[in-house]
Amino acid sequence: MVQIVPSILSADFARLGEEILRVERAGATMLHVDIMDGHFVPNLTVGPPVVASIRKITRMTLDVHLMISDPDKYAPIFIEAGADQVSVHQEACLHLDATLRAIRARGKRAGVVINPATPVALLEDVLGLVDYVLVMSVNPGFGGQQFIPQSLDKVRALDRRRKELGLNYAIEIDGGVNLDNVAEIVRAGCDWLVSGASIFHSEDPGATLAQMRAIVREATSMRA
Ligand code: DX5
Ligand code: ZN
Repeated sequence: MVQIVPSILSADFARLGEEILRVERAGATMLHVDIMDGHFVPNLTVGPPVVASIRKITRMTLDVHLMISDPDKYAPIFIEAGADQVSVHQEACLHLDATLRAIRARGKRAGVVINPATPVALLEDVLGLVDYVLVMSVNPGFGGQQFIPQSLDKVRALDRRRKELGLNYAIEIDGGVNLDNVAEIVRAGCDWLVSGASIFHSEDPGATLAQMRAIVREATSMRA
């Protein structure tokens, strides 16, 4: 099922619990949590204790996106904290196959992420090992950036490839998703659309999410 996945990166962290419940009440079933280490990306966010606190207040699927240099060390720690699924960057993993297997071995969904400059072709040998592929449609590190249109070609290529290989990984996109591009992204074959600033910086995040979900429903019904 196609989903809009709110990213808390653009929420008001002083009122994080409230902000999370607001999108949950508006129908979100997945929540995107960005973990940045100031090394792999030029920004810092939150650590395992925050994920553990979020886990206590919501039943939404916690989609943890690791933008860190040492995913092997931290993926198990975030799983312990309550992550339901963890994605790691292809660019950060020397032994990607082993990293993905280690996440799955803990009974959680494993995702692989590619930056805008990384081609889909580099994922060929791990497509059978992942539950989802996350296409970065901005350079990671900050919310509120502009969507890079070439990302849609990557979504189309991943959709084509999963059909050819008979696989069922989900395709996720992250960065610059807004009311104006949701329909096109869904039509390209994307399943999970992460959205931060467009939701949390809008006047009424619940209403914006509902609007996005309505667009998704219509675009999905037109999908082959
Ligand atoms: C960016 C993060 C995103 C971010 C997207 O590095 O990975 O999850 O929250 O935010 P928007 O939707 O504002 O581009
Ligand atoms: Zn993210």
